[in-house]
Amino acid sequence: MKFVLVVALALAVLVNVGFSKDAALETVSKHGQLSLNGVDIVDEHGEKLQLKGMSLFWDVWMPQYYNKESIDGVHDNCHSNVVRAAISVVTEEDGGYVETPDECLERLYAVVDAAIEDDIYVIIDWHDHAADTHLNYSLEFFDIVSKKYSGVPNIIYETFNEPTGQSWNDILKPYHEAVINTIRANDPDNIIVVGTPTWSQSVDQAAANPITGQKNIMYTLHFYAGTHKQWLRDTATNALNQGLPIFVTEYGTVNADATDPVDEAESRLWWNWLDEHNISYANWAISDKEEGASALAPNTTSIQVCQEEFLTESGRLVVAQNKA
Ligand SMILES: *[C@@H]1O[C@H](CO)[C@@H](O)[C@H](O)[C@H]1NC(C)=O
Ligand SMILES: *[C@@H]1O[C@H](CO)[C@@H](O)[C@H](O)[C@H]1NC(C)=O
Ligand SMILES: *[C@@H]1O[C@H](CO)[C@@H](O)[C@H](O)[C@H]1NC(C)=O
Repeated sequence: MKFVLVVALALAVLVNVGFSKDAALETVSKHGQLSLNGVDIVDEHGEKLQLKGMSLFWDVWMPQYYNKESIDGVHDNCHSNVVRAAISVVTEEDGGYVETPDECLERLYAVVDAAIEDDIYVIIDWHDHAADTHLNYSLEFFDIVSKKYSGVPNIIYETFNEPTGQSWNDILKPYHEAVINTIRANDPDNIIVVGTPTWSQSVDQAAANPITGQKNIMYTLHFYAGTHKQWLRDTATNALNQGLPIFVTEYGTVNADATDPVDEAESRLWWNWLDEHNISYANWAISDKEEGASALAPNTTSIQVCQEEFLTESGRLVVAQNKA
């Protein structure tokens, strides 16, 4: 262990960078409280920090990964310094926070507490497509969690995973402002990421009318490399140039419907673009469902999460990227 540490330190000095490219080494104890400087996430020393990691799957559908063993795997084996807890709000048959708030909170707390113990950042994601239609649940949820974790530097809030066709100006911006005010009453500093129209692609609409009078607010960009290409990078580059801070809280190497094939070439174009701009990203998903986006092979157990022999084609590429 000591030898490994010495080698790691020597390497860090040799390549003369302030931080390693292996996200697993860039922990909360090293970087502390995050904030924004322009479009960049900076750590408590004012240095730019890029988070790289994994999103969990909807909690009601993959509860087996909402525990400490799984988060250990996400950190150690998937080389992540961020994990996203995708808390279901409404699903057709299996409920979510609206029906079973206590079960969802229990799963969320298991993940957040594991992330704190494992020294990584954690995104508390309100995984919803229609959050504007039940704002009172969003406000209740974010009040509870921001009270519980107020002042904990690991925490990042995500207020609305993927809006669909809702208007940014008339519906989404006011929704986010209400949720932000609720969080800020308990937690004045931690980063809040807000969802953008069209499944979190239309960052241009947010850039044209951003949220003002608040600090540490970022905007969600989601992409699936098989579907979303240079045109979406161009849209996002324009938004960055207008000063919009972007966080990719979810992306896939495959098609937008999460199916095969893995588009390695387009994924690399995306990763190059993200790294060039120091944009943080989390892969969809820690899931063993038989579909291209899953990082895990069918029937992977929580203690096997991200172990090499249980990774899919997509999982292997993503892990290599998280440590590169
Ligand atoms: C939200 O509003 C609906 C409709 O008025 C109500 O039935 C529900 O109990 C409310 N839930 C919360 C958490 O406030
Ligand atoms: C990304 O962060 C690194 C490390 O701080 C820095 O050297 C580089 O200039 C940053 N890139 C951009 C586009 O800001
Ligand atoms: C996963 O487990 C189920 C239930 O035990 C079994 O039927 C199935 O064949 C397994 N799938 C794989 C790919 O091992």
